[in-house]
Amino acid sequence: MDLLITNIKSLLLTETEPRPYAAGNHMAELSSVENAWLYIAGGKIAGFGVMDGPELAGIQRSKPGLHKIPAEGKLVMPAFCDSHTHLVYAGSRELEYMDKIRGLSYEEIAKRGGGILNSAALLQSTPEEELYQQSLSRVLEIMQLGTGAVEIKSGYGLSTEAELKMLRVIRRLRETTPIDIKATFLGAHSFPLAYREDPDRYVDLVVEEMIPAVAEAGLADFIDVFCDRGFFTVPQTERILEAGITNGLKPKIHANELDFSGGIQTGVKYRAQSVDHLEFTGDEEIQCLLDSGTMPTLLPGASFFLGLKYAPARKMMEAGLPVALASDFNPGSSPSGDMKFIMSLGCIQLRMLPEEVLHAVTINTAYAMGLQETHGTICRGKKANVIITRDVPGLAYLPYAYGSDLIDTVILGGEILSPGP
Ligand code: NIG
Ligand code: FE
Repeated sequence: MDLLITNIKSLLLTETEPRPYAAGNHMAELSSVENAWLYIAGGKIAGFGVMDGPELAGIQRSKPGLHKIPAEGKLVMPAFCDSHTHLVYAGSRELEYMDKIRGLSYEEIAKRGGGILNSAALLQSTPEEELYQQSLSRVLEIMQLGTGAVEIKSGYGLSTEAELKMLRVIRRLRETTPIDIKATFLGAHSFPLAYREDPDRYVDLVVEEMIPAVAEAGLADFIDVFCDRGFFTVPQTERILEAGITNGLKPKIHANELDFSGGIQTGVKYRAQSVDHLEFTGDEEIQCLLDSGTMPTLLPGASFFLGLKYAPARKMMEAGLPVALASDFNPGSSPSGDMKFIMSLGCIQLRMLPEEVLHAVTINTAYAMGLQETHGTICRGKKANVIITRDVPGLAYLPYAYGSDLIDTVILGGEILSPGP
């Protein structure tokens, strides 16, 4: 259905010349149109402008039956792009949540065989249909929260069969929902207990069996590794990335969440689309990321939930880097896919301005999953993935009112999402 949104208080993040991402000072420069209209045709953004301009009258004359949405007092902006999630998982881990409240750290829980291994055991025994249904409800939830494109990782299988099961679920979610989905193979998320004494044997399994099977079935776009202290080392990460690249998968890795792991440098060396987490980022890492084409992606939801330190977002932007913010939606370190809350954490904890944060959750995350040409801004020809807010004073009110539901209407591919149950 073609749509005309009229009398928009402020149409945010408009572009006439598409840019792949916004970096450094440019992240604070938000291009917008006040008292605007937005025309959506054939599922794409077909035009926008000011209400009293001549173009609007032309559209209304030539398309008399056009479905109109009045948006007085409301903001219209690109739907969120969430470039880092693990939302296909079985069950939940609130028992570990209580262990954390009592004082155990994320690493201590992992060392006891909990954490990722806990989710892996449950996932392995969960039938594929059940895993799909649980994951579908999370996808439907984030769509209502305004997310229009999402990356989903495997990594709770940790056996060839269970990893393939996860990736098939991701493919089915892509086929059955209007959200745009990119799939990432993360067989190297943790070492199964049986390999703890000889972790390189698990790397052999990932490289020799899992990656070829995933590539053969065409189930993934990206390859990921948890390159950090206590998880995969730099040489192990390099082996896995090389195998992934040989099999047509682009790197996109977990790095520097728990320590200065060398993960950022490794990601850049292998031309990763993004390096994610980055709580431990110093001058050397920043220098390495500059002009690399690799998107630094911060996951403040994990710092919030685990009580860890936050990544140095301001320092990165001051150095001229782009910064992307994603949810990390997963059962262990960030059990939420609410990107509006991620905006709030970006403002309060990372000290980013609302304008910077908006770029970080739209165009920069679109880039972090290779979708920058079709997603992330209000630009003619891009996919019509758009949010209409409730009546709000302005952009800053969205992260400010951090617990309020301020998303009124979500439009994905030009179709209005019906409100959830
Ligand atoms: O991105 N850091 C590694 N992996 C996930 C957590 C996964 C889990 O604990 O289940 C993350 O935070
Ligand atoms: Fe993650």
